[in-house]
Amino acid sequence: MKTLTAAGITRDAIARISKSKNRRLKQIVRALTNHLHDFAREVKLTPEEWWAGIQFLTVVGHMTDEKRQEFILLSDTLGLSAIVDLMANRNHQSNATDSSLLGPFFREGAPLFPVDGDISHGAPGDKLIVAGLVLNTDGEPIADALIDTWQSSADGIYDLQQADSDEMNFRGRLRTGADGRFRFRSVKPSSYPVPSDGPVGKMLRALARHPYRPAHVHFRIAAPGYRTLTTALYISGDRYLDSDVVFGAKKSLVVNYRRSRTNGAASAIEFDFVLNSRESRKKRKRG
Ligand code: BEZ
Ligand code: FE
Repeated sequence: MKTLTAAGITRDAIARISKSKNRRLKQIVRALTNHLHDFAREVKLTPEEWWAGIQFLTVVGHMTDEKRQEFILLSDTLGLSAIVDLMANRNHQSNATDSSLLGPFFREGAPLFPVDGDISHGAPGDKLIVAGLVLNTDGEPIADALIDTWQSSADGIYDLQQADSDEMNFRGRLRTGADGRFRFRSVKPSSYPVPSDGPVGKMLRALARHPYRPAHVHFRIAAPGYRTLTTALYISGDRYLDSDVVFGAKKSLVVNYRRSRTNGAASAIEFDFVLNSRESRKKRKRG
């Protein structure tokens, strides 16, 4: 029988997956095993620390249900989600709109709004009009694109975080017109802390990190023949733009409030979203 050593266990663990026919799974598990074992050796992980880690992940699991995804929050706050998102979108043609994290507050089946519909249902806050175009990479309008939009209230709270969380608010679906235009009303979003009453919040506090995201409005835009774009617009001047707790804010997605052209009492965000065609990734691979 072999004598067990720390390096030998890594070699053995990797050798044991060699018969799997799933090449991608093998590649991922091999790299994960190498990095995980290297990490334990590098920090000289003690049994107490290993147990604290197991307990932490157990609490993360217990905290997770249909309304609260603590594992995604963990991935987001560690920067993993942002890295995966950046890699998935780095092949985009240069003029396509950058993506940004979906986050845990997206909900399927938000109510449909007509042009100028108010997704805040008249909630308190500074009036906001959001308008723009959905275009292809040649600058042509995309008619009938389906836009999902969602945001926090003026107090920085999502409907899912409210006691009556079955009600949908500060979210809606809209369709672009034949000219690719969309417009809806809302209130200015606020910067807000990610849910901090669970183990991830505890981790942030232990690491002396703040839990805030800069103010933003989320968008998911889908149209036949185009790659669905998940993104968000971030408000210029927000104090958390450079230290977003989930590493999601990108320079190209920062917008200024302007005075609305249609309603002098409201501020406006104007932004044109550019979608990649479904073909573009394949074409580049071949070319
Ligand atoms: C959000 O923007 O809604 C969000 C994204 C990641 C983690 C928490 C919230
Ligand atoms: Fe958000």
